[in-house]
Amino acid sequence: MCGIVGYTGKSSALNPVIDGLRRLEYRGYDSAGIALPTQIGKPLFIEKRAGKLINLEEALKNTPETKSGIGHTRWATHGGPTDANAHPHLDNEGKLALIHNGIIENYIELRTELEKRGHKFKSETDTESVVHLLSDARKSHNGDLAAAMRDICKQLRGSFTLLALHSDNPTIIVGARRNSPLVVGVGDGENFLASDVSAFISHTKVALELGQDQIVEISPQGVVVTDLTGKVMTPKQYEISWDASAAERGGYPHFMLKEIYEQPKAIADTLIGRLAGLDVKLKFKKFNKIVIVACGTAYNAGLVGKYAIEKWSGIAVDVELASEYRYRQPSIDKKTLVIPISQSGETMDTLMAMRYAKDKGATIFSVCNTNGSTIPRESDAVLYTHAGPEIAVASTKAFATQLIAMYLIGLEIGKQLKVVKKELVEEIIQELSELPAKVEQVLETVEPLRELTRTLKDSQSILFLGRHVGYPTALEGALKLKELAYMHAEGFAGGELKHGPIALIDVGTPVVAIMPPENSILAEKMASNIQEVKARGAVVIAISEFEFKSADHLIRIPQVHEFLQPVLSVVPLQVIAYEMAIARGNDVDQPRNLAKSVTVE
Ligand code: G6P
Repeated sequence: MCGIVGYTGKSSALNPVIDGLRRLEYRGYDSAGIALPTQIGKPLFIEKRAGKLINLEEALKNTPETKSGIGHTRWATHGGPTDANAHPHLDNEGKLALIHNGIIENYIELRTELEKRGHKFKSETDTESVVHLLSDARKSHNGDLAAAMRDICKQLRGSFTLLALHSDNPTIIVGARRNSPLVVGVGDGENFLASDVSAFISHTKVALELGQDQIVEISPQGVVVTDLTGKVMTPKQYEISWDASAAERGGYPHFMLKEIYEQPKAIADTLIGRLAGLDVKLKFKKFNKIVIVACGTAYNAGLVGKYAIEKWSGIAVDVELASEYRYRQPSIDKKTLVIPISQSGETMDTLMAMRYAKDKGATIFSVCNTNGSTIPRESDAVLYTHAGPEIAVASTKAFATQLIAMYLIGLEIGKQLKVVKKELVEEIIQELSELPAKVEQVLETVEPLRELTRTLKDSQSILFLGRHVGYPTALEGALKLKELAYMHAEGFAGGELKHGPIALIDVGTPVVAIMPPENSILAEKMASNIQEVKARGAVVIAISEFEFKSADHLIRIPQVHEFLQPVLSVVPLQVIAYEMAIARGNDVDQPRNLAKSVTVE
């Protein structure tokens, strides 16, 4: 996930471009760069710097005055966060600049072909292949950049927003989008392109919505949108109703809500290019034990992972709180595979647990959301989740993608060891690919749950119940509520209730129950657990795939393979925690006493 901006008009381009990047920095801040056309037909002025936008700003001391320009703020995927990998990327002559948000899946084959044709590459990015491809296409279209863009988009696989600028026609900027955001800002004698409207909201409130696989050309005089065949399209115009201060949150009142709603995309991005298998060199045959180490929400994702990985790989899986692991001097040897899970990649407890295991001879295969952070750097192999930057302290979309990582790893090991049936692999792959749309479906129906949550705001305590993978989901629901609502909340395994926790139930105690799939033996057991708490006065909110009649309130979610259910059932739990925080007047994005990344033990 990256932020991109383009400006062409009557003012100096530097201000709107840098201002836009500042507002888009939430989308990534590994590096930033700009391209400005100083003279017609001459190489472009380029400045790019690793690190936050401030590094670029400090480098921009004697910047030329130009009336157009493009800028990029990066969240690294392919290639670490270095100056060379920062965007814009240039063609051989330095006259064509390109910026990109997304992932080009076929970049290796493109690069091999382009290198054979004499193109020189300077970075490790997937993006650089596109600028060279566009350069050739532009020549064969007699300098028509929009026509060249249409041409190359047909050859690209993956997701992308692209912006390009050539010094031969310096007032023209061409954009393209597929599965990645791009909006047009329509001004008076000036026009904008950006990842979202926040980038240009202080200049214009008129925006155009672009469709999938559309190409846009902006100049100070106007905006032309076409499809990939060159047919002119009429984009939908709209008025932006929110102000600049809400801009970084893309119009959402809080980052957490925005991130909850970004889950379908985060899941889709994490699945891209991986459904057929993972690009991991490890030989899993040598391991007789898998240990997942993590903290907080990542630990709960690991608990779900245990169910899936152990079942599909046939290898025993333990899940350990990272802060406990090394101090109990566990038995570890060369046959141990350790999987640290961390959104930030910097959590000290997780890092220390992993280093301890590595010292004892274990192999480390980490799951991480932050490119280039310490945990992946010190691992033998990494599976990056592509949730994008998560700003709210309470983790939501990172959790969803950690679950996806668990499923992908379970399938990968099972396939390599030939212990998982082909039919099951096919079924899970199909189910995984349908998850983004199913999460979207859940999100469309949460409004009544928000109302219901507000009625529970004065409860002393809320309990969460689940069985099988519903149990770690219940733990995550309780953790979210503690973090955000500062309320007593606990998650229990349904079967464990009778061994103590049932004493907590009083008349009116809210109990959130995650129902296993219909007709399963566990659904019957869970139904009995629900009767037990109801008999003692609990008010039951059930999250269920089917019409479960015994609950006081029913939240329906789509049917899904039983191991994958947490991806859907956690969404209402996140919404409950979010709404409860608001109802109780708490700071949603920065709850008291917490930090996003905890770098102390
Ligand atoms: C902190 C955060 C939690 C997070 C945990 C692990 O405690 O507040 O939301 O789950 O760290 O973070 P990590 O970055 O390692 O996933």
